[in-house]
Amino acid sequence: MSALKLGVLVSGSGTNLQAIIDSIKSGKLRVSVEVVISSREDAFAIKRAKESGIEAVAICPEWFPSKAEYEEAMINKLREAKVELVVLAGFLKVLSPHFIRAFAGRIINIHPSLIPAFCGKGYYGLKVHKAVLEYGAKVTGATVHFADEGTDTGPIILQKAVEVRDDDTPEILSKRVLEVEHEILPEAIRLFAEKKLDVVGRRVFIKE
Ligand code: GAR
Repeated sequence: MSALKLGVLVSGSGTNLQAIIDSIKSGKLRVSVEVVISSREDAFAIKRAKESGIEAVAICPEWFPSKAEYEEAMINKLREAKVELVVLAGFLKVLSPHFIRAFAGRIINIHPSLIPAFCGKGYYGLKVHKAVLEYGAKVTGATVHFADEGTDTGPIILQKAVEVRDDDTPEILSKRVLEVEHEILPEAIRLFAEKKLDVVGRRVFIKE
């Protein structure tokens, strides 16, 4: 059986992309990253991809007259690369229903909180951890879920909790949450690639 073809969408540092690449290199994950698309030209994630011999391109929203044309450019690139699973790995743009329908049931997202807490519009990156600390939550974590037409609302595949400590800052907390992101994102991709995910309504059952 040929390796599942991934397209990874990124916006920044790309540590989650690196976790995927490292899992492939170590043989834990048998998939292939066909293309990385960044919403920013200066994203370090592009460098990480290229260093591993993966095609990486920037497709930036500000280059296009409309969101529809921006997304069409990404859809075309992903289709050209025959991508079977789209991974949003620190991709900080909200995708329209048109994009979601183009890859229905084949888009997964990593979010740095325990959904449904601290998610939805405006909750991304460090803002999430800042909100967790301001609220006084004692536990946070990370979630991998299927993307649907809402923001961070699709069926949850995996979650892992992280304890909030008294001396945490958003930056310190984000580092501990990233550690668990780097575990659960490659694991969710493995489960998808091995066809071990059964989606029944909102619930995702894992057949191991
Ligand atoms: C990660 O914490 C990811 O969960 C978050 O952005 C960071 C990207 O880090 N994504 C979101 O907030 C999406 N709503 P990375 O570029 O080092 O992988």
